[in-house]
Amino acid sequence: MTKFRKIKQQKTLVTSALPYSNGPIHCGHLLEYIQTDIFVRFLRLIGEDVIYVCADDTHGAPIEIKAAELGITPEQLIAGVYEEHTKDFKDFLISFDNYYSTHSPENKHYSDLIFLRLKNKGLVYTKDVEVTYCEFCKRTLPDRYVKGKCPKCDAPDQYGDVCEACNSTYKTVDLIEPYCTICKNKPIRKTSTHYFFKLSQFSKKLEAWLNKNRNLQPEIKNFVLNWIKNGLEDWNISRDGPYFGFKIPGEENKYYYVWLDAPIGYIASTDNYCKRHNLKTEEYWQNKDARIYHFIGKDITYFHFLFWPAMLIGSDFELPYDIVVHGFLTVNGEKMSKSRGTFFTAREFLQKYNPEYLRFYYANMLSKKLSDVDLSFDDFRKKVNNELAANIGNFCYRVLSFLNKNFEGKVKDIDNNKKLIKEIDDKIKGIKKNYYDLNFNEAVKNILHISSLGNKYFQDNEPWKLIKEDKEKVHGVLGLSVNIVKNLSILVQPILPNFSLKLQQQLNLSNLKWKDINFKLKNHKTAKEEILITKMEEKAEGKKIFPLDLKVAKIIDVKDHPNADKLYVLQIDLGSEKRQLVAGLKGYYSNSELLNKKIIVITNLKHANLRGIESQGMLLAGDDGQNVGVLTVDKSEAGEKVYIDGYENSTKELSFDDFLKLEIKIQNNHAVFEGKEFKTDKEIVMVEKVRDGRVR
Ligand code: MSP
Ligand code: ZN
Repeated sequence: MTKFRKIKQQKTLVTSALPYSNGPIHCGHLLEYIQTDIFVRFLRLIGEDVIYVCADDTHGAPIEIKAAELGITPEQLIAGVYEEHTKDFKDFLISFDNYYSTHSPENKHYSDLIFLRLKNKGLVYTKDVEVTYCEFCKRTLPDRYVKGKCPKCDAPDQYGDVCEACNSTYKTVDLIEPYCTICKNKPIRKTSTHYFFKLSQFSKKLEAWLNKNRNLQPEIKNFVLNWIKNGLEDWNISRDGPYFGFKIPGEENKYYYVWLDAPIGYIASTDNYCKRHNLKTEEYWQNKDARIYHFIGKDITYFHFLFWPAMLIGSDFELPYDIVVHGFLTVNGEKMSKSRGTFFTAREFLQKYNPEYLRFYYANMLSKKLSDVDLSFDDFRKKVNNELAANIGNFCYRVLSFLNKNFEGKVKDIDNNKKLIKEIDDKIKGIKKNYYDLNFNEAVKNILHISSLGNKYFQDNEPWKLIKEDKEKVHGVLGLSVNIVKNLSILVQPILPNFSLKLQQQLNLSNLKWKDINFKLKNHKTAKEEILITKMEEKAEGKKIFPLDLKVAKIIDVKDHPNADKLYVLQIDLGSEKRQLVAGLKGYYSNSELLNKKIIVITNLKHANLRGIESQGMLLAGDDGQNVGVLTVDKSEAGEKVYIDGYENSTKELSFDDFLKLEIKIQNNHAVFEGKEFKTDKEIVMVEKVRDGRVR
């Protein structure tokens, strides 16, 4: 049961898992950050003393290897990613009080402090282990950097830890015919001394914590208790250099394993915040009355329910009050996948949609259950259009515009409809509990119910008719309606902070808190109403933007370029218009071969002057180093759209440099982008003369 605290202000600390610094934030991550943010905003709204901290998880072999590949330092890599991540979070309205980095002095300090405390208590020991080492790359290879045949089923090209063909798990050293994924050479086996944390000694204490803690989700609790029952193994917390991380005290070439210092990043980010706000880190981490909530995805349960609490117990910190675990995001019912076009980065999403659409959709889907969440674009559009726009958005707009039009925005009295007010008050109590219990799906349902009640009340009173007979009565109806709108602006705030802000501006109110929910707004003048949320169009949903606007064009004239040996000047028909192109096809095609050919043209490329002649676009051709052949179609007409599945062509003007950044390959005489072929509604685009190569 939820208890509401009244008297003493306890400190609450909320965290989301720290995203890795080696890639962009995507819609799967956002499920977690939006879930956490809704909870935190709710706590702030009801007046709790809460801070929300997070950080980039910057350490580990993948980051070091990726930086080396890019020819930059890991520090440069993580700095760039930090900029992107913070921008993405800001645009999705994630309201961190502190977003920090695990590559920080505070994190070094706490990592050493915790490591040394554990070591001094005899909870850390060293042991020789067998590792896989690449003599060419001069590095110990992590599981993901060794591939080979599965020792159980012989499937080729399997990773060093688990076989994707037969699902068996094994050690890297068990792989048959292993190879280093970086240089493809055969690695050797080697022994190396490593530091181990005595996790096995914590079984009883962890069990006691799990059994005593009333907040944890039961499914997770049982899962973890089972792991403990089956026996815990000690944990290797060191890695050999080269590695990007913190060196272990007293060691030359050994570092903390990233998963040791990553959760310590929660403390470090808190510490960094506290320093700047005249607070004490111990008030959060070494205070029995404080509440720490971690939000994580189910894939990192082991780390957060075993390693992390054991480390905290062993080094005299308080344990989390709750660890909320969410399921995984699927898109249109499938695992997110780049090749199927179901992988959306935060940025890609923002290019198409209002971030609050996603916040609203996720809130609709989230509860304190472990189940996966599906982002079905069909459902997404329906929810945004029918619930957010047509229900809440429309009700608020309708009330405010009626009030402005007929009463100059003035609220006088409130219709004393006790039954309706009671019904809404009951719902509001439920919503508070829904938020507290992390059942946001129920909160949304109840909020929608309130705006439906409001809509019905407004409709049933037919104010547009009644106003001719009893203007006073209508004024009261509008008074009550405006109070419902005001309450809605508060109730939705955790989910839709911008919507709420705009709505309160229109109400001529600001910064309302949960305690301002009431039916007391009288003798007040509202500001001008505006549309709060627009509906989503059907065609664009679920599609990514492809930067090229490609069309079929027919060549209707071919001339030699007067000032260049290798260039032709072509006149082309694009169905609705004619254009001129300059093309470097001389030596590969004769004039007559080109005439009447149907080619593929980029129509949104910035026009260019090529040796004195304007080129209004560019045709696409393949190149394999020897031959050049144009992309062409047979059955399609001039002007028809050329596209790839799952993408929509952008019509935004494109520079030649941007075009060069796209990697379009030729495979089997087809033009392919991210694994998908260029096509028209009638056929797949063919490439002449070049079987395998690149589009230029
Ligand atoms: N760096 C670690 C966490 C360290 S916490 C001390 C990590 N990073 S991550 O970038 O891979 O994931 C960050 C969070 O996003 C994790 O909680 C993870 O479960 C969550 N998600 C990543 N992909 C996800 C989905 N597709 N769906 C839902 N959540 C997902 O793990
Ligand atoms: Zn190698």
